Amino acid sequence: MIYLDYSASTPIDQRVADKWMSVETTYFANANSDHVLGRESKRINDESIRSIADYFKVLPKEVIITSSAVESNNTAIKGLALKYPLKRHIISSALEHASLIGALSFLDASDYKIETCPLDEEGRFDLVALDKMISSDTLLVTLIAVDSETGIRQPIEEAAKIAHQHGTLFHTDITQLVGKGHFDLTDIDMATASAHKVYGPKGVAVLIKKAKVPLIPLLHGGHSFTPYRASTPQNGLVAAYAYALKLSDLEFDERLLKVNQLNAYLKDKLSQIPEIHFNSNKHSIPHLFNLSIKGSRPEEGLAYFSNHGLCFSSKSACSGQEELSNSVYAITKDEKLAASSYRISLSHLTTTDELDTLVGVMKAYLKTL
Ligand SMILES: Cc1ncc(COP(=O)(O)O)c(C=O)c1O
Repeated sequence: MIYLDYSASTPIDQRVADKWMSVETTYFANANSDHVLGRESKRINDESIRSIADYFKVLPKEVIITSSAVESNNTAIKGLALKYPLKRHIISSALEHASLIGALSFLDASDYKIETCPLDEEGRFDLVALDKMISSDTLLVTLIAVDSETGIRQPIEEAAKIAHQHGTLFHTDITQLVGKGHFDLTDIDMATASAHKVYGPKGVAVLIKKAKVPLIPLLHGGHSFTPYRASTPQNGLVAAYAYALKLSDLEFDERLLKVNQLNAYLKDKLSQIPEIHFNSNKHSIPHLFNLSIKGSRPEEGLAYFSNHGLCFSSKSACSGQEELSNSVYAITKDEKLAASSYRISLSHLTTTDELDTLVGVMKAYLKTL
């Protein structure tokens, strides 16, 4: 099988898997236990948290370990809403992950006003419009850093500055950006990321929450790494996440160069096929390659590709596959493109041979339409 769905999940790096197992088996004691083995686990956890904090350039106390980016997004949105129940306006976007939309819909049902920041003609947040939308009732601006489907990199740092000019807090989901592009959290109050998108294990993620930002935890009972999320600390998983981030930093340039070359290679091959329209644009990270195939229905197309040994998706893995692509529609305003789009995601592990196979199978598929 050829895997081209790295934005849905990455295979764990063997070095990270080894780290996970060695920490989990050696430091198995509960880090909250007041005995020598518990203290050793705590020491290892403190090191992991420091390393994660260094990666994001924040303080260790600003790192909240969660089980998933879904949990981080829910904690950020609902935790803040619980803290400030009188502020009822939130600004978000049509490009958000299902977990962010889900948390906002939950609030919407209890009388919140959720507004969508419009996009400019290149699929990026319209910051002039955003500036006008924020009012004294705005609890939060939450905008994704990279659209999960088209890969369009969003101006989150500038958006955060605008939110702060109005005294409003800013959250961003950087899950699809970590390890793939640079970012600066200086002006960002909260940020969500997940280990399994960066060659780490599933089941561990982070919510970065700046020290000054108050939040009501969603999970109570039992001390963990921080007061913001209870449960026994996941010693091995957190060490593995810290290591995956460190490797992604150390190998950043070489991984990015490889993906840039692969993206250019694929674009060159596919641009010769007239039935294919590219939805990703010059702002997209090279890891995400979104295209629409004229006359194709993704439910059928994906089955064809899968039967021919190719694994990729039509949308973000958490959206209903039968619906239009939210992102492609928001960016192109074209229902046909949004109903026939595919998301191919590339990695430094991808090879040009794999891409040649992809192009060959796509050409054969077009003949079936
Ligand atoms: C932007 C974004 N946010 C959140 C998630 C959810 O991540 P997790 O699987 O860690 O809950 C994903 C994964 O699909 C994602 O792409």
